[in-house]
Amino acid sequence: MSSFSFETAPKIICEQGGANRLGDICKGLGMTRVFLVTDAGLIKAKLIDGALASLATAGVAATVFSDVLADPPELSVQAAVDAARAAGADGVVGFGGGSSLDTAKLVALLVRTPQALPDIYGIGLARGPRLPLIQVPTTAGTGSEVTPISILTTPSHEKKGVVSPLLYPDIALLDSRLTLGLPPAVTAMTGVDAMVHAIEAYTTRLKKNPLSDALAVKALQLLYPNLLPAVNDGKDATVREAMLLGSLFAGMAFANAPVGAVHALAYPLGGHYGLPHGLTNSLVLLPVLEFNLGTAQSQYAELGRAILPELAGADDTTAASAFVAAIRARVAVMPYAQTLREAGVKEGDLPMLAEDAMKVQRLLVNNPRDVDYADALALYQAAF
Ligand SMILES: NC(=O)c1ccc[n+]([C@@H]2O[C@H](COP(=O)([O-])OP(=O)(O)OC[C@H]3O[C@@H](n4cnc5c(N)ncnc54)[C@H](O)[C@@H]3O)[C@@H](O)[C@H]2O)c1
Ligand SMILES: [Fe+2]
Repeated sequence: MSSFSFETAPKIICEQGGANRLGDICKGLGMTRVFLVTDAGLIKAKLIDGALASLATAGVAATVFSDVLADPPELSVQAAVDAARAAGADGVVGFGGGSSLDTAKLVALLVRTPQALPDIYGIGLARGPRLPLIQVPTTAGTGSEVTPISILTTPSHEKKGVVSPLLYPDIALLDSRLTLGLPPAVTAMTGVDAMVHAIEAYTTRLKKNPLSDALAVKALQLLYPNLLPAVNDGKDATVREAMLLGSLFAGMAFANAPVGAVHALAYPLGGHYGLPHGLTNSLVLLPVLEFNLGTAQSQYAELGRAILPELAGADDTTAASAFVAAIRARVAVMPYAQTLREAGVKEGDLPMLAEDAMKVQRLLVNNPRDVDYADALALYQAAF
């Protein structure tokens, strides 16, 4: 066996209704003045009310910051950091989708150890320590609650990541009840994002490892059969729990076996058009799977056999093609735009998007097949 290392959050609590115990959990980490990072949608959906009541009962003071923006721009993160410092926070809770969790990570870090964001983009450049941090995901999802990554949007519309083990939370708290009211389109986009994490972790070139492989397979076995039921009937608690767990497993997998060309091509679409992260992944997913098919055939075949029992005895060629076809069929019925054109992308922008995608070498190096500028342009054209 080739050598590898694997990291994840030190404690994961999975509990229906667990958010209503947040106060005691915060107290357990020694927090007395919590800064809760969320967005307006979560407030509107009244999702934080139970958590706030439990903080009050536990005697933990709370300041709510609900100005998180999707694909967090640098300025909005800085505003959150300033507000947390003004509140005298001694602990941070991220509560929401990936945008809230990614903002919370940097608040916990930068309040305790100030440093400029442009100085810490990249891998392992951030310095600690940070404030205690609890992450409560409400989408299924980014898996951000168990990744060492925070993705921001720069003033020049690039999506850049801070990657550091300091960004793992002390506790990830998964309460699937929080996801019961997630609207169908958000369920679909975030669910496909989670599936992409699993697929890209399994086919990653440099850091593929047996733990990430096992988690990625289990993630797909949970996500693939439950995605459509979750979109069609969001109130089914069993389905929602499977999705949240699948998203967690996929997050643990790709935190250690990083994602590739789907994400690298998705980022420019988020940066320039403000399209939701899951949608941008979905739009380029099938062209990238087709592009990778020759190189990643045996891995796609393994994933196919893992989610489609009828492929048990199939050879690699058949199983890999059937896997790609199954993902195509699943994505095709998702309730959102299916092509870049439908999503409002301008054809004349494709060369600029391809140039931007080439800057995401951090991820492109993980793709099973090399991607050059001409490939990136052809992939966007295929997605158009
Ligand atoms: N850190 C990582 O490892 C990682 C991985 C993948 C993606 N990301 C980043 O995460 C961000 C995307 O996160 P996301 O897809 O979770 O979306 P999001 O956090 O932007 O939220 C999308 C919308 O869903 C709403 N919402 C969230 N939970 C809800 C619920 N339970 N009920 C009703 N509405 C709810 C929010 O209010 C918001 O309007 C992007 O910035 C992306 O780059 C980070
Ligand atoms: Fe993602």
